[in-house]
Amino acid sequence: MARIALGIDIGGSGIKGALVDLDAGDFATERLRIETPQESTPANVAAVVDQIVDNFADQLGDGPIGLTIPAIVQHGVTLSAANIHPSWVNCPAEKIFEDALGRDVVLVNDADAAGVAEVQYGAAKGHPGLVIVTTLGTGIGSAIIYRGVLVPNSELGHLEIDGHDAEKRAAASIRTKEGLSWSEYVPRLQRYYETVEFLFSPDLFVVGGGVSKKADKFLPQLKLRTPIVAAQLQNRAGIIGAAWLAVDKGENPDQLR
Ligand code: BGC
Repeated sequence: MARIALGIDIGGSGIKGALVDLDAGDFATERLRIETPQESTPANVAAVVDQIVDNFADQLGDGPIGLTIPAIVQHGVTLSAANIHPSWVNCPAEKIFEDALGRDVVLVNDADAAGVAEVQYGAAKGHPGLVIVTTLGTGIGSAIIYRGVLVPNSELGHLEIDGHDAEKRAAASIRTKEGLSWSEYVPRLQRYYETVEFLFSPDLFVVGGGVSKKADKFLPQLKLRTPIVAAQLQNRAGIIGAAWLAVDKGENPDQLR
C-alpha cells in the first residue's frame, strides 16, 4: 500500500492541500484551494485548514498532516512574520492547529518544505552534497540541505546585502512591483547568489517560486561557480515537502518540543 500523508501549504493568497503519495513523490488527489482569510490570524487560518482536512479525512484516516507557513517555526512555535499577519510572531501555532483539528500536525517553514521536496523528488533528487534551495516569490525563502538532511529555518532571504534586506531587492515580487526588466533584475540576483555562494559554498543551488517557470530569462545570465538549476516541482513542492516532513517527524520525533 502506498504511503499517504496530507500536505497543506499556507500562503498569503491561498491555502492549498492535497493527499501526497510519498512513494511516487506526487499528489494522490486533486488539490483543494481555499482563499486565505483577509485577516490571516492563526485562528482564522486554522478554521480554513480544518475545512481542508475534513475534505480529505476519509482517505487520510489517521495519516500524518504537514503544514507549511512562511515563518520561522521552531519546535512548533512561529517566531517571525515577514509577509504574514503580525500575530504569528511568538505564537504556539502548531498547538493552535492541533486544538482546532483535534489531531496532531507538523508545522514547518514553507521554503524548508519546498527544499526537502526538491531533494527527495525533484531537481536535487538524491544529491549527496550541500544543496541550497531558494524560493523567489513575495519574499525569498531558503532551505539548506546537506546530504539529504535539512538544517531547518535558515532565513537567507533576510541576509543584509549592500545595506538592504536581500528579499526587498531580489524577490520576484520586487521585479513586478518596481517594473524591472530582466536585464535590470538579473544583477540583483547575481549579487544575491554570489553572496550566498561566498558564505556557504554549496554544491548546488535550486531556484523555486513562481518565477522559476521563466528560469531561462535569468539563470543562464548568472555567473557563479556553483551549478544553479530551476526547481522541478513548481507549486506542488510545498505540499509534497510538508507531507514528507510530517512522516519524517512521526518517525523521528522532535526531542525538544
Ligand atoms: C520569510 C521566510 C519564508 C520566505 C518565503 C520570508 O520573508 O521570512 O520564513 O520562508 O519569506 O515565503
